Amino acid sequence: MRFEDKVVIVTGASSGIGEGVAKKFLAEGAYVVGCGIEPAMKIQDGKAIYVQADLTKPEQALHVVEEAVKTYGRVNKLVCCAGVTFIGSMDNTEYDTFMREISINLGGVYNMCRSAIPELKKQEGSTIVNIASDLGVRPIPERIGYCPSKAGVIMLTKCMALEYAPSIRVNAILPGLVRTPMIEQRFQEAADPKELEESYASLYPLHKMGKIRKSKKSTTIPFSALSIRLPTAPPIKSAVPARTHKGSAKISFLNHQTMTSTSKATQIKKVLL
Ligand SMILES: NC(=O)c1ccc[n+]([C@@H]2O[C@H](COP(=O)([O-])OP(=O)(O)OC[C@H]3O[C@@H](n4cnc5c(N)ncnc54)[C@H](O)[C@@H]3O)[C@@H](O)[C@H]2O)c1
Repeated sequence: MRFEDKVVIVTGASSGIGEGVAKKFLAEGAYVVGCGIEPAMKIQDGKAIYVQADLTKPEQALHVVEEAVKTYGRVNKLVCCAGVTFIGSMDNTEYDTFMREISINLGGVYNMCRSAIPELKKQEGSTIVNIASDLGVRPIPERIGYCPSKAGVIMLTKCMALEYAPSIRVNAILPGLVRTPMIEQRFQEAADPKELEESYASLYPLHKMGKIRKSKKSTTIPFSALSIRLPTAPPIKSAVPARTHKGSAKISFLNHQTMTSTSKATQIKKVLL
C-alpha cells in the first residue's frame, strides 16, 4: 500500500483515465476526492468522495479543495485528468469553441493547481501530475484547439515545477491514445469505425491503443505498452527528479512516434476526417 492514507484529488474521476487513476489510488490505500462535470462518479468506496465541479470556474475548483480538507483534513496529491477533445480545423472552428477547449483543458488545470497548491505546500512530499497528451508535442489534423491546449498543459507543468521545487514535485504524463469513453465516442460516430480504429492504432509502433485494464485488485493503465522513446520527443520532467515507486501504477511519461512522412500524414488525415 504505497499511498496509505494519502489524500489525493483526482479530476475527471467520473470517466476514463481519471476513473482508472482514482481506483488505483484507492487500491493503494489512499483517500480519493474525485471530481468531474458529471453529477456523480461510478466509484463507490468508503474512502472516496465526489464533488461535481466545472473546473473552468475558479470558485468551483476551490470548492473541490475545500471539500477535501473538510472531509479528510489535508491534500497530499493532485492528479489533473479532466479534459475534452473537440474535432475541428481552423476553417470550421469558431473562436468561442476554440477558447472553450483551452479553458477546460488548460484553464481547468490552472484553476485546480492554483486552488490546491496552498494545501499541498502544508504537506511533505506533495505532488501534482497533469495528464497532457502526445498531441501536445505532435499535432494531428482536426485538433486545432486540443493540440495547443495540451502543449499549454506541458509548459504550465514545467513552469510550476520550477516555481514550486523542491516542496511540490510537478510532472506531466503524455499518454498516447487510450480507449476511454472519449475515444469510443469517435468510433461510434465514424462512418467506418473499424477503419478509424485501425488508423488510430497505426499511429503507434505496436499498432495498439491503450486501455484501462480491470484486474481483481485494481485498475491499471498500461500506457507503457504503447510508448516508444525517440530522441525528438524527450520526456517532460519537473525540475525535481520524480521518485520511482516500485510497482506503482503504470503511469509514466510517454513519448510518441513522430509522423515521419507527408504521405503518412495525408493518409492519417484521410481516415480521421
Ligand atoms: N483517451 C485518450 O486517448 C487520451 C490520450 C491522451 C490524453 N488524454 C487526456 O486524458 C484525460 C482524460 O481523458 P479520458 O479519455 O479519460 O476522457 P473522458 O471523456 O473519459 O473523461 C473526461 C473527464 O473530464 C471531466 N471533465 C470534462 N470537462 C470538465 C469540466 N469543465 N470540469 C470538470 N471536469 C470536466 C469529465 O467529467 C470526465 O470525468 C483528458 O485530459 C484527455 O485529454 C486522453
